[in-house]
Amino acid sequence: MVLSSFLTSLLSGAAAGTSTDLVFFPIDTLKTRLQAKGGFFANGGYHGIYRGLGSAIVASAPSASLFFISYDTMKVEARPYIEKLIQNTTKNDAPSTQLADTLTHMFSSSVGEVAACLVRVPAEVIKQRTQVHKTNSSLQTLKIILRNENGDGIRKNLYRGWSTTIMREIPFTCIQFPLYEFLKKKWKEADASDGPLNPVKGAISGSIAGGVAAATTTPLDFLKTRLMLNKTSIPVRHLVQNIYRDEGFKIFFSGIIPRTMWISAGGAIFLGVYEMTHYVIDTSHLLSTFP
Ligand SMILES: *[C@@H]1O[C@H](CO)[C@@H](O)[C@H](O)[C@H]1NC(C)=O
Ligand SMILES: *[C@@H]1O[C@H](CO)[C@@H](O)[C@H](O)[C@H]1NC(C)=O
Ligand SMILES: *[C@@H]1O[C@H](CO)[C@@H](O)[C@H](O)[C@H]1NC(C)=O
Repeated sequence: MVLSSFLTSLLSGAAAGTSTDLVFFPIDTLKTRLQAKGGFFANGGYHGIYRGLGSAIVASAPSASLFFISYDTMKVEARPYIEKLIQNTTKNDAPSTQLADTLTHMFSSSVGEVAACLVRVPAEVIKQRTQVHKTNSSLQTLKIILRNENGDGIRKNLYRGWSTTIMREIPFTCIQFPLYEFLKKKWKEADASDGPLNPVKGAISGSIAGGVAAATTTPLDFLKTRLMLNKTSIPVRHLVQNIYRDEGFKIFFSGIIPRTMWISAGGAIFLGVYEMTHYVIDTSHLLSTFP
């Protein structure tokens, strides 16, 4: 990937991630508290809604940039392999471009999510624990994790819920990104213009795609929250069994309304800012003077 498109991904990702996390932080806090053991009011209710903001701000630009750098690179690099793979498996020399597009977007966004999770998971652990705590800041929560009081090891504690987060992000992104790119493509075809798509239309496509993906992956998000908040690490299977036995089936969908709301509104801002940054850079050729 050339430097200018690398910088475009980096800047668009950073701008998009930071603005989304700032605007929607309070809703995210409410969601975490709804999902935490003991319920909403026992975990802070409406008090200290910005608790944990520090960890979110520190992490949002690097994790979003990692996502878009990987996503934009993979979209270009993986495409020929995926086309070949489809040709080989379907024995069809002219496979449908829609299929190749969809698979490329699923694969690229999954790679992007794994890269982003390197930063996102530790930040989420700190953020969620701070969100359900009455007094401590993100920094104090980090210090406590670094003290390794439960003896599990610092890396294990910081990356608590790593597999569940990946298990949540990959289905999420495999729904969101192909749907988002599909809606954009259809809209662009309807517009019948050669220029880049209007960022507002990109934002609306992102919002629809994000809402659908958020609602359907809520149980995975719920499990991730419970894993991250627990003081000791427990196997996911046991956790699911215990929760199902003690709290019933419906609890797995707790937080669905704030989650769907914030991700569809967040999708509009996140992908809208991303599209906007791309649009500005593409149309101004700001970075085309770089080698
Ligand atoms: C497709 O098949 C050809 C020959 O049958 C092989 O050389 C190539 O590596 C295969 N490509 C993929 C992506 O599987
Ligand atoms: C809150 O922070 C203080 C100071 O770092 C620490 O001693 C205390 O254990 C923390 N409380 C919890 C419940 O994490
Ligand atoms: C942590 O997990 C154990 C085992 O499932 C459970 O008994 C305990 O209540 C959980 N604690 C929290 C804070 O979720």
